[in-house]
Amino acid sequence: MPKAFRGDLKLLGTSETEVGSKDLYLDLLKRCLIADIYDESGWRIVNVNRSKWGLIQYLKNFIIDGLARRGYLIVRTNQFNAELRNEGIDWPCFGYSMTGLQRMNNIEECMRTVLAENVPGDFIETGVWRGGSTIFMRAVLERFDVKDRTVWVADSFEGLPKPLVAQDRDKPQYDLSECNYLKVSLEQVRANFDRFGLLDDQVKFLKGWFKDTLPIAPIEQLAVLRLDGDLYESTMDALTSLFHKVSPGGFVIVDDYWSWPNCRAAVDDFRAQHKLKGEIVSIDKSSVYWRVPIE
Ligand SMILES: C[S@@+](CC[C@H](N)C(=O)[O-])C[C@H]1O[C@@H](n2cnc3c(N)ncnc32)[C@H](O)[C@@H]1O
Repeated sequence: MPKAFRGDLKLLGTSETEVGSKDLYLDLLKRCLIADIYDESGWRIVNVNRSKWGLIQYLKNFIIDGLARRGYLIVRTNQFNAELRNEGIDWPCFGYSMTGLQRMNNIEECMRTVLAENVPGDFIETGVWRGGSTIFMRAVLERFDVKDRTVWVADSFEGLPKPLVAQDRDKPQYDLSECNYLKVSLEQVRANFDRFGLLDDQVKFLKGWFKDTLPIAPIEQLAVLRLDGDLYESTMDALTSLFHKVSPGGFVIVDDYWSWPNCRAAVDDFRAQHKLKGEIVSIDKSSVYWRVPIE
């Protein structure tokens, strides 16, 4: 196996001697998307904080605002931490996905499995931020020369909704609706696909709140359903609208299962309500997947 490969990715259907330029392309792409090849992606841009009160904070905001108007940013030059990025724990300063290497490897493994076993259906991520995971899904289709499957890219493209249901209103830290870092426009995500030469008609965008877009999305069948909407409501909306479209042998991936208790509650409630089988398997400290049983 070339040294370039990291993590414990299993290249299903590929013997060690077969690993060639196409797999190296996927590996390098993954690492560009999570930005673990740049030390500077560990840096933090210091933003205004209007939720804190007091003279010092007011002066800080005044300076940050003033500099921003002149095109300058204040950056905290944090040391890059490869372990955190591997687990998708730190938010990259730049880069296109916050999922980390283990979860990128998981997307690749799930896709390789369904393609190798001819499990029918498309691929979707609900909650895409800058689009990195879905850019990678499109690249995997390219790698295997798959022309008859679509990658669906579902997001508000304006960040998280205000927590509405009781499970999400539980804790103030669940309200990220004002977090600008999480607001990435559709135009920007399209441009990100284009930057990698992967924007074409095998990529379809579903813009809006999941509760509005997913029930009427023209998706027939899914091979991989990847949930990354953080909240109870966002997770439940996606499961309710899409789970029945996942083919037997397909995968459901839940990005926030261990890191957001309200997301876990939505998954557990849905699985209990529908008496779902399929063992939950951990990917890393945050995420899990399960495989829809082939009856
Ligand atoms: C943690 S980010 C996704 C990270 C992304 N999967 C990646 O690879 O980096 C969560 C995303 O979910 C979206 N989101 C959350 N709840 C939503 C909802 N109910 N409807 C539409 N978009 C939602 C937000 O806009 C945000 O882009």
